[in-house]
Amino acid sequence: MLKQIETGIWIISTNDWERRLFDELIPLPDGTSYNAYVIKGTTHNVLIDSSDIRKIEPFLNDLQSLSLEKIDYIIINHAEPDHSGAINEVLALYPKAQIVCTEQCKEILVDLLHTPSEKFMIVTNESSIDLGGRTLNFISAPWVHWPETMFTYLNEEKILFTCDFLGNHIASSEIYSSNDGRVYNAAKRYYAEIMMPFRKIIKRHLANIDKLDINLIATSHGLIYDEPEFIINAYKEWVSDTVKNEVVIPYVSMYGSTERMVKYLTEGLIKRGVAVKPFMLTATDIGELAMGLVDAATIIIGSPTVLTGPHPAVVYAAYLANLIRPKAKYATVIGSFGWKGSMVDQIVGLIPKLKVELLNPVIVKGKPREDDFRKLDQLIEEIVVKHKHLGILEGG
Ligand SMILES: [Fe+2]
Ligand SMILES: [Fe+2]
Repeated sequence: MLKQIETGIWIISTNDWERRLFDELIPLPDGTSYNAYVIKGTTHNVLIDSSDIRKIEPFLNDLQSLSLEKIDYIIINHAEPDHSGAINEVLALYPKAQIVCTEQCKEILVDLLHTPSEKFMIVTNESSIDLGGRTLNFISAPWVHWPETMFTYLNEEKILFTCDFLGNHIASSEIYSSNDGRVYNAAKRYYAEIMMPFRKIIKRHLANIDKLDINLIATSHGLIYDEPEFIINAYKEWVSDTVKNEVVIPYVSMYGSTERMVKYLTEGLIKRGVAVKPFMLTATDIGELAMGLVDAATIIIGSPTVLTGPHPAVVYAAYLANLIRPKAKYATVIGSFGWKGSMVDQIVGLIPKLKVELLNPVIVKGKPREDDFRKLDQLIEEIVVKHKHLGILEGG
């Protein structure tokens, strides 16, 4: 889909309506798009990012429909193949084009795509490219979400091209986020799954962006931001150290014991004024769980014992939580066993990167009895006290 943003500036938003999984890991309930941009100057033309190889045909069709005499520069803000995947094919069409990127991006592209190294032009924060009437600058922005990432800024129209950063996975016939109410949730899901491990670094990038005058944030996935403060303010809240009065409970139950405990905790916590988000892991979209982990103060992992350890779906969720590193302050484990097991130690061993204080686990033999529910009451009380101490729960 080709649309003009300004005179001489186009977005090529290649929709991937049917894609439902990214990196064979991340659910895409709304599909996604790979956004590239073409900017014409009076002397030079530039392409920013390209497309996933999955959609190379519609991408190249849109690019060629512009009938550009030449492309002088192909700017690659991020080496991941969902944006760089078509550059060898673009080079075949425009053999004089130079690939503009960071030094580390070049190394990765040469490895991933076997692009000849003489095709590259390395840029830093001090570099600028004059297109004739339009100038581009570059902002090093490592770790959103690979080490080589950068942003490109078009000075005259005040457009910031951020590639993955601030993006959202939505396939749409629209291009602007102001036309689509789903964007906040999609962007939060994207942040949770892809950017949250780099929360501290992102704070620095947001501070750098604050120094710029921006009319439009043009990402390379999903809808773009004609009201930049919408996404900047959302990100500032997500990356802040402030947690919300929420408990997230990822769990699995095989014969109902763990589920009874989860329901008891859920109702008890709600009565005390604490928000709860339980996620039954064999039914839940793992992206929903990741979103829940963005703000929650406390994580309770619930599992039955399978042989001697946690249920494999719980292992997967705990491993994933450890990777995406939510800012939760407290965590614990609840669940059940039939004869014996070391489920708690195994789950705790899966989450070393979470900077959490571990609360007392509650593990029951068989179906929970009265004294087990009293232990759950104690856990509820402990969570209420902790949340009050954080200043995120009043009364209770
Ligand atoms: Fe990426
Ligand atoms: Fe991407």
